[in-house]
Amino acid sequence: MKSLVFATNNKKKLREIREIIGNKFEVLSLEDINCHEEIPETCDTIEGNALQKAHYIKDKFGMDCFADDTGLEVAALNGEPGVYSARYAGENVTPEQNIDKLLSKMEGVKNRSAKFRTVIAFIHGDVEKEFEGQVSGSITTERHGEGGFGYDKVFQPENSDLTFAEMTSEAKNKISHRGNATKLFVDYLNDEL
Ligand code: IMP
Repeated sequence: MKSLVFATNNKKKLREIREIIGNKFEVLSLEDINCHEEIPETCDTIEGNALQKAHYIKDKFGMDCFADDTGLEVAALNGEPGVYSARYAGENVTPEQNIDKLLSKMEGVKNRSAKFRTVIAFIHGDVEKEFEGQVSGSITTERHGEGGFGYDKVFQPENSDLTFAEMTSEAKNKISHRGNATKLFVDYLNDEL
């Protein structure tokens, strides 16, 4: 079986991709390959960071690798928080603090359009590929729901009355940015490798 490294230790992401990929590929985490260092994410784009993480592993460990990066892009804020979504309110903040900052910046703003964007960068041999998934929606004026993570409580996808935090994870994965990027990536794996 061919092995691929997923440059993450996020257990939820690992479980999800392993379920989708099935038996054809073995997906290894950073822990599995004994990579315990912090991988730099110093680019100012989502694409750049995904590629930087995948390159880091490919260059250092010589293994085929993929990495993902996601951002929430709010139209009225010129695409903020974007690549800085995890640390919008500062370094080492909670998701709730990020949401507080977002809601206060959006106070009184009429155009509440936003989208989540995920890029998966994959390096195998000397081939470099990117797969992008998006979901459009809007930022609610208050928190709704208890599920999910990150900005889920204030993101309502298009054609839905519920925020991501009010949906089951299955319902969210079917339409989500990460779900869409993952589908493209898995199709590529099945067709090309
Ligand atoms: P990452 O690149 O997957 O680590 O995502 C960066 C940041 O984007 C996270 O820390 C969250 O704040 C936000 N984010 C990513 N995916 C989601 C999602 O599915 N729902 C809500 N927030 C998310």
